[in-house]
Amino acid sequence: MAGVETDHRSGVSSDPPGLAVLASGTGSILGAILDAGLPVAVVLVDRPCRAEKLAADAGVPVEAVERAGFGPDFDRVAYTESVVAALGRHEVGTVAMAGFGTVLGAPLFAAFPDRVLNTHPSLLPSFKGWHAVRCALAAGVRVTGCTVHLATEAVDDGPILAQRAVEALPGDTEQTLHERIKAVERVLYPEAIRRFLEGSLR
Ligand code: GAR
Repeated sequence: MAGVETDHRSGVSSDPPGLAVLASGTGSILGAILDAGLPVAVVLVDRPCRAEKLAADAGVPVEAVERAGFGPDFDRVAYTESVVAALGRHEVGTVAMAGFGTVLGAPLFAAFPDRVLNTHPSLLPSFKGWHAVRCALAAGVRVTGCTVHLATEAVDDGPILAQRAVEALPGDTEQTLHERIKAVERVLYPEAIRRFLEGSLR
């Protein structure tokens, strides 16, 4: 599937050029990726969400791989295998997580080695996890931001590819600050993905 395979006749990489975007939320980051004209081959969701409609409106195929539950018996590896199988039905060489609400396991990183990207609403390595903006506010930081990084099995970890700072303002709530961070993510992430696909961002 992914991985650099060289066509020795031409010397050109034969990786599928397509991008899979994984989303669960309002899909505003997905919307920016679509608006940027990036080669989105499929949008994959783990629950009913607005991202499905955004993809459908853009004429992009949607794979819904709903998770069976959120309890301790959730089989992460089996779920991830279903995600990889769904992505395998499309020409996907790179995966971009855009607010995807399920932590995926080893099979994703085996299928797309060093080809899974993530955007996170903090300046990593600070404030990992699902409440990054809330935790940054609680810590009283004056500056936070967003990070694009290569995703690994460890959550919100992996080599940092791009970052941008966003000021925390007096009176900010989690929602107001997150909205300003997302406005920056909607510029930074599509730019970073484009450069990654071109091979100029490592
Ligand atoms: C973005 O802020 C993204 O960084 C965050 O979810 C939001 C999705 O926004 N992802 C994480 O926190 C992953 N750890 P959207 O639903 O409007 O596209």
